[in-house]
Amino acid sequence: MLSAAARQRIEVVEADITTLEVDAIVNAANTSLLGGGGVDGAIHRRAGRELLVECRTLGGCQTGDAKLTKGYKLPAKYIIHTVGPIYRSGGAGVRAQLASCYRRSLEIAREHAVESIAFPGISTGVFGYPQREAADIAIATVGAWLDQHELPKKVVLCTYDSLATYIMTEAIAAETAPD
Ligand code: AR6
Repeated sequence: MLSAAARQRIEVVEADITTLEVDAIVNAANTSLLGGGGVDGAIHRRAGRELLVECRTLGGCQTGDAKLTKGYKLPAKYIIHTVGPIYRSGGAGVRAQLASCYRRSLEIAREHAVESIAFPGISTGVFGYPQREAADIAIATVGAWLDQHELPKKVVLCTYDSLATYIMTEAIAAETAPD
């Protein structure tokens, strides 16, 4: 369940995440952290070459973990690179790994005094996670975090098309506790 207080700090925004004016955006990366397609490609293109230079110093990232870089040419000050799981149906392991992506990103954001953060639908593109299942995990994990922490103050769940927006909005409505 998503508490009414946590719900007020979550916003669903349909946008290209690279355009958002927030303190940090999250990248759905791969373990190399050296770029790829999808949202990862868009972020690297828009942030510029210097991002790749910094990423090369990070030594990659494990699935479920996250690492922070500067935002370079993005409006966002920071990029938090996380690595979602490749979907396998029925695996409790992948659920835990996807939840861990959200939690580790929020932990790192808090350590850097991030007030506003935007997440894409981690693993819901190339990595094949069903959107509703992934939305439920995102909402439960972000909601539990917001109930326990003051930072980030605001969490944007960034969708990329109208179907994703519909699925995310439905999932939030289904999870929100009545006042
Ligand atoms: N802004 C917001 N959301 C976006 C954008 C954007 N500019 N572009 C795509 N999405 P994906 P994954 C949505 O495939 O599934 C990369 O090659 C998209 O509609 O980017 O975690 C990495 O290097 C989808 O809902 O990430 C990895 O190898 C969501 O972002 C692999 O793909 C995630 O789709 C990661 O796969």
